[in-house]
Amino acid sequence: MRQRWGSRLGIIMAVAGSALGLGNFLRFPVQAAQNGGGAFMIPYFIALLFLGIPLMWIEWTLGRFGGGFEHSTAPGIFHSMWNKNRFIRYFGVIGIFGPLVIFIYYTYIESWLLAYSFFALSGKYAAATTQGAMKSFLSGFQGLEKNEFFGNIGTAYFFFLITFILNVSVIYYGIKSGIERLCKYAMPTLLVFAVIILIRVITLGAPNPEHPAWSIANGFGFLWNPDFSALKSAKTWLAAAGQIFFTLSVGIGVILTYASYLKKEDDVVLSGLTAVSTNEFAEVILGGSIIIPMAFAVFGPQEIQNIANSGSFNLSFITMPLIFEKLTGGVVFAFLWFVLLFLAGVTSSVSLAQPAVAFLEDEFEINRKRAAWIFGMVAFVLCQPAIFGLAYGVVDELDFWGGTFSLVLFGTIETILFAWVLGMDKAWEEIHTGADLSLPSFYKFIIKYVTPVFLLAILGFWVVQEGIPTLLMKNVPPENKSVVLAVRLMLVLIFAGLAAGVWLAWRKRMRPAAKEE
Ligand code: PFF
Repeated sequence: MRQRWGSRLGIIMAVAGSALGLGNFLRFPVQAAQNGGGAFMIPYFIALLFLGIPLMWIEWTLGRFGGGFEHSTAPGIFHSMWNKNRFIRYFGVIGIFGPLVIFIYYTYIESWLLAYSFFALSGKYAAATTQGAMKSFLSGFQGLEKNEFFGNIGTAYFFFLITFILNVSVIYYGIKSGIERLCKYAMPTLLVFAVIILIRVITLGAPNPEHPAWSIANGFGFLWNPDFSALKSAKTWLAAAGQIFFTLSVGIGVILTYASYLKKEDDVVLSGLTAVSTNEFAEVILGGSIIIPMAFAVFGPQEIQNIANSGSFNLSFITMPLIFEKLTGGVVFAFLWFVLLFLAGVTSSVSLAQPAVAFLEDEFEINRKRAAWIFGMVAFVLCQPAIFGLAYGVVDELDFWGGTFSLVLFGTIETILFAWVLGMDKAWEEIHTGADLSLPSFYKFIIKYVTPVFLLAILGFWVVQEGIPTLLMKNVPPENKSVVLAVRLMLVLIFAGLAAGVWLAWRKRMRPAAKEE
């Protein structure tokens, strides 16, 4: 029997859970600060309207369509749409590969958040009161150096194990009793925590009496005052599109898998839009109001530039703990903050695991529990390079191929399949099956022409601006080159392994048919 969601709210929460993650609270504000502040919102909203929302609908619709053929992952779904083409199912491999690759590093970072939740309460990092000391704390924790805080990577590894086991257990219990149940509790909790922190931020005033101009209001100004000159650079547009993909979890295959557990007559239009709106509220309103304005108010206009440029990891694991140390009741707020991020992380990482598990279940008829075990063992091995190769840029390399390249490529493929292979008339009918809401007909034009052209343009620009330099390892320090090559070899092997899986599954399926003839 095919697994199903327990309720409509259940799947909306699960999709919103996948979408709402570290991307909303950490990646978004830093992207905005680095790419024109308020002006970033122009390409951002354009990408939301023409890429994000259409892709969300496309994935819900295709997923539900594939579920009707007992397929939960892209190889089977693409095959059901275009069974005359023998190769299309191999393109679908990206829809399992991408999520698996993101899972490998995302889970490790997620485990730091669990660790920091404990550290916040236990006062473990309280002795670190400067940026330098907090950086040593983080490096010691990650096993990059031995220092007064940590002698080895043991603590980090312990928290990784807990996080990893938690993820696999949720998958083991399945769609309804695992993922849906987790999201039902985790989502409201994290939203409440975020609102509590937001209220604290707004009431902060100017926390440093020596610098009355370092106020929260000016912090908002720093983030949102538009720098329109940023719009002239293709980089800003690529960053906005990339953020939309990443934050909505679209273009990668996970929503496809989630939607495959819908029933034929379940609505996708309004449900998809609700998931998008929840994510955007959490991103623009909550994510955009916490870390950057707070960092401005505590560290001032000069330092904030360095902080914003040093990236989201430093901001979350170095700057934020220091900020909370300076606030009254900071221990509690720090705890809420890290727990909220951890919850946002788990509800995303389980969605990254599900395609690989569903692939084993559907295409090899392995039962869910056993599939979760197999996934757990393989993923555990694959996580090790991310943990031990952190210093050599392994996470960046995985993020590039899994979290950027796969997204744009897969998003383009599925849009073209939907609008051009399935055909816009059939596609329109599919979207509207069971729909509570009728889409304005100009969206037909958008999905058919605007979204694919936009995607192809982004893909083209991206390959030239970032793809080729990265492929040639232009920005990789010489000492890391061999590790980066080893990671690439691992990625090729993962992809080849999955492609071989598709080949085997279809060969098995074709056999009985051949006999009948
Ligand atoms: N949307 C998640 C975030 O904003 O953190 C990250 C993510 C989850 C990306 C799942 C892709 C995905 F398939």
